[in-house]
Amino acid sequence: MAEFTLPANSKIGQGRTFKAPDGAKRIKRFRIYRWNPDDGKNPSVDTFELDLDQTGPMVLDALIKIKNEVDPTLTYRRSCREGVCGSCAMNIDGTNTLACTKAIEDIRGDVKIFPLPHTPVVKDLVPDLSTFYAQYTTIKPWLQAKSSPPQNSERLQSRDDRAKLDGLWECILCASCSTSCPSYWWNGDRYFGPAILLQALRWIDDSRDDHTGERLDELEDPFRLYRCHTIMNCTATCPKSLNPGKAIADLKIKMAERM
Ligand code: SF4
Ligand code: FES
Repeated sequence: MAEFTLPANSKIGQGRTFKAPDGAKRIKRFRIYRWNPDDGKNPSVDTFELDLDQTGPMVLDALIKIKNEVDPTLTYRRSCREGVCGSCAMNIDGTNTLACTKAIEDIRGDVKIFPLPHTPVVKDLVPDLSTFYAQYTTIKPWLQAKSSPPQNSERLQSRDDRAKLDGLWECILCASCSTSCPSYWWNGDRYFGPAILLQALRWIDDSRDDHTGERLDELEDPFRLYRCHTIMNCTATCPKSLNPGKAIADLKIKMAERM
């Protein structure tokens, strides 16, 4: 089993070890970041040994088992367990992804689980995404039309116009992409990051929306859009296989075309 060691100068300490139950045959170690804002201690990494014959197939199944049967203080977010709510995003085995869709058997050696990188931590695996959601509010993520809707009908779109939203509407706002981006790590208070920019494009490309110009004006800023340096961690990590890097490139093209 591959060992997981912390750097010698790390402020994160080795935490407790919870041994596998007697008789366990397929033992897997889960190394999980722990931090409690109320105990005054530095963060640590606890080790939980689970019997894979008694654990569901996904990393979220392991977290649920630990919380239910080993340590009820372990704290993480989850809701749908289906890869559609985005709340279980965390750093697993060095990659930001969804715990509910990440199969344990795809991970060699110990399973290392940390909160999304470069986010303030609320507790254990729960990141504080207040800034992320505030930025989402800034792009006004709702339909803004100047005309009234047709009577007794929805606002309709052609099939071609609807198809322009493919690759955008599927975003579940998990923040895996934004928190994998070095530009967002260093300038996350001013740079919107890949998730929010992809969402901005989702409304700019919507044929029913009449505020394209205003939406682009809001992004015309040295930081909000142009702090993207095309590093592409965002696209590499997206657990929904979306391409936020391309969405940002499309926004830059739209900006250039209106000059
Ligand atoms: S683009 Fe992908 S990684 Fe980024 S928030 Fe949306 S679903 Fe998550
Ligand atoms: S629990 Fe909803 S995406 Fe994982």
